[in-house]
Amino acid sequence: MTELSWTRKDLLGIADLSAAEIQLLLDTAESFREVSLRPIKKVPTLRGRTVVNLFFEPSTRTRSSFEIAEKRLSADSLNFSSATSGLVKGESLVDTALNLQAMSPDLIVIRHGHPGVPHMLAKRVAAGVINAGDGAHEHPTQALLDAFTIRQHKGGFEGLKVSIVGDIEHSRVVRSNVLLLHKLGAEVTVAGPRTMMPVGVEALGARAVYSLREALEGADVVMMLRVQLERQSQAAFPSAREYFELFGLTQARLKAAKRDVILMHPGPMNRGIEIASDVADGRYSVILEQVANGVAVRMAVLYLLSGVHREAE
Ligand code: CP
Repeated sequence: MTELSWTRKDLLGIADLSAAEIQLLLDTAESFREVSLRPIKKVPTLRGRTVVNLFFEPSTRTRSSFEIAEKRLSADSLNFSSATSGLVKGESLVDTALNLQAMSPDLIVIRHGHPGVPHMLAKRVAAGVINAGDGAHEHPTQALLDAFTIRQHKGGFEGLKVSIVGDIEHSRVVRSNVLLLHKLGAEVTVAGPRTMMPVGVEALGARAVYSLREALEGADVVMMLRVQLERQSQAAFPSAREYFELFGLTQARLKAAKRDVILMHPGPMNRGIEIASDVADGRYSVILEQVANGVAVRMAVLYLLSGVHREAE
């Protein structure tokens, strides 16, 4: 597949993408990575293009890395704040989007608490829509940056043992990651308490286990997930101390994984609940590399969806 074969208007989820499209996104991100290493971190690629960032849920990493990616590509950005918009006066999300569309943005990046909102928006606006996280459904750019980080360290995905541990039920990160890693040939295990394991998770392409030890045994990659208390209607475990005793990652427990294991976490981390501080900051951790790679991956997504590569034909 060549770069010129990318024709999608939107990036709504990993479920829609072929393995070749995923590899293309990762290869394109590789070519943008060095921009962030330059003294002057800017290229003119998206000069004259406008990107609207619509975040209806809190975000540190995704929002700031999209903004940085847009600036490094020389795009013009509008950071839309729902708290100071017509939404607080009762305007609907669709009307808000149509009004923004009337100002002719090229791309809209959206995070929303309800699954499917980016899909609904994509049908109504001419701008390309990028899903920056929709409820517990998908977080495609997170899975892409995770894959980019894994590829840097492990070279590829075929037969790689990847274990994802934590609140599987409420995680959009796990859903996008399982879909992506399965498409690229990795062997994915998900682990967590039964109260945090969705029914039918195997259908996505993962093995489900209920013991941390079993998940860690022989793993090449361990990805720890945050317990998402804000998405739980009732507590899925008795206390943070009990959760840490059963599913918290410690140095001693990590020894069950391969000697060259890499440790990942999408953030934000709950230190002392799903992960011990010394492991999060320790020699196997690539957590801050994930954040750095997020900029290159989002530059690649913005570039391909903008269609500028087709204009050069
Ligand atoms: N990984 C992630 O989505 O982090 P933020 O919520 O800070 O964007």
